[in-house]
Amino acid sequence: MQNLTLNTGSQLPALGLGTWKSKPGEVYEAILQAIQIGYRHFDCAAIYGNEAEIGKAFQEAFQKGWVTRQELWVTSKLWSNAHHAENVQAALQKTLSDLSLDYLDLYLIHWPVVLQANSMFATKATDLISLKEVPTLETWQALENCVQAGLSKNIGVSNFSVKKLSALLAQTSTPPAMNQIELHPLLQQKEMLDYCKKENIQLTAYSPLGSKDRAAALRSANEPSLLENPTILDIASSHNCTPAQVLIKWALQRGTAVIPKSVNPKRLKENFEAQNINLSSEAMEKISTLDKHFRFVNGAFWAVEGSGYTVANLWDE
Ligand code: A2P
Repeated sequence: MQNLTLNTGSQLPALGLGTWKSKPGEVYEAILQAIQIGYRHFDCAAIYGNEAEIGKAFQEAFQKGWVTRQELWVTSKLWSNAHHAENVQAALQKTLSDLSLDYLDLYLIHWPVVLQANSMFATKATDLISLKEVPTLETWQALENCVQAGLSKNIGVSNFSVKKLSALLAQTSTPPAMNQIELHPLLQQKEMLDYCKKENIQLTAYSPLGSKDRAAALRSANEPSLLENPTILDIASSHNCTPAQVLIKWALQRGTAVIPKSVNPKRLKENFEAQNINLSSEAMEKISTLDKHFRFVNGAFWAVEGSGYTVANLWDE
């Protein structure tokens, strides 16, 4: 298993299992299967609503002696309604209690967006609070305290633009170890890759397969299909592997972590085995021409009129 070294020295298994959209009722079995297949990195978040079931599976795996806590890498994320400094540690404690763990390997600020403590999502402008009122630095310093308290080994961010990352770097002596963002051949984010390499921040690629199981409300009409992209299909056939394996190995060969989601035993195995494929430099070159700067997760659900949040200022583009 390929590891990435974070700026703290921690070793992150580059291929992890995504759990966004993995439903309670199916995620327990999926985690147990994944651990048996060899997955050691699990990507979670409070807002996915399935951490308690994932925690039961971890407990089962520890009890069966399949794996120890130290052999697992568990990431989770702070939801936007707990960005106030006084709410951060309680949110992390809730995640730890749900996951049945006493520490995380990595805790991320899920979005650079702040919700009122009693709002789960942004349905009206008053659900949202501006970043001026609750600056990212306040939340970040509360995350630093969580590291001090031994609740997480590493901290980082998710869905941050280069502009937001560099603003945070300018204000802290604890640089984020990770930025987890959407990355795949239709959204290659070369500038972000170069910036994070320069600043020694690792990247995790989410939605690497195009997240076709998103709720209808989060999908737009005529979305492209990554798994049916003719170039990806050609490369899969010339490398004697599947399109999903091409997409996963592409992310690994670019030096990012990647977290394909599956709850299906066959696809869990297929995705894990993507590590063994070697994409030729011609294949990597062909894929580099596919970039369309297309986001499956476009963040429009934050852009509530009158809130000050827009898709443009979310991504700073
Ligand atoms: P399933 O969980 O039934 O396997 P992403 O990781 O980009 O969010 O994509 C997840 C979606 O891709 C889910 O619908 C998942 O379905 C599906 N998926 C996962 N692995 C594969 C695979 N190897 N081939 C095709 N679809 C896959």
